[in-house]
Amino acid sequence: MAFTYFFRDFQTLQLIAKHLIPTAAGRASVRVWDAGCASGQEPYTLAIILAEAMGRFSFRNLKIEATDIDGSNLFEDIITKGIYPREDLERIPPDIFEKYFYSLGDGSHLQIDELIRGRLSFKKHDLLSLKPVGEGFSLVLCKNVLLHFQPAERVAVIKMFHSALAPGGLFATEQTQIMPDETAALFEQIADNAQLFRKIG
Ligand SMILES: C[S@@+](CC[C@H](N)C(=O)[O-])C[C@H]1O[C@@H](n2cnc3c(N)ncnc32)[C@H](O)[C@@H]1O
Repeated sequence: MAFTYFFRDFQTLQLIAKHLIPTAAGRASVRVWDAGCASGQEPYTLAIILAEAMGRFSFRNLKIEATDIDGSNLFEDIITKGIYPREDLERIPPDIFEKYFYSLGDGSHLQIDELIRGRLSFKKHDLLSLKPVGEGFSLVLCKNVLLHFQPAERVAVIKMFHSALAPGGLFATEQTQIMPDETAALFEQIADNAQLFRKIG
């Protein structure tokens, strides 16, 4: 199973949310693409951060489209149900845990609140197809995935993300991922302490 966990890189996700929320204000629909979402811990963490920070009304306009090549064929089921073993939830701050997770049966598994689940959908998708899953995204989040690609593939995938973003949309990747020279002119970096970029053009 892919390596990921709830509240991974929490501060970066909070920073991304802080920049996303003003661009989302007043929009009828806010689309986010989490590319390489694994079994859902990252997009669900982002959804919870946004649920806490956005008003209830704007949160209802949020749609997180989570995709992964999913070699295991298990992610759709896990993400759709939003059910995780208790030991996977230990890093979640206690107040958030109490608020958004419901114990099932013998208590060994918990389910994420429908408010959060309803904002997420999953689709199996290969980034190297270079076909975006849509357009007009306010944010493309792709963390700990690009490092697996060859340099030329990375450039092509980042160009695809650029084409999928709405004007002024955000692209975020992990701290150790350097923006290639070939795509640097397509984005401006908007945070010193994170690989968070705004689309130019
Ligand atoms: C280390 S996990 C990252 C999960 C999450 N983004 C995080 O940072 O916690 C890497 C994910 O990338 C996915 N992946 C690898 N190659 C891919 C491709 N060509 N298209 C889509 N997803 C891919 C893997 O299936 C895996 O779930």
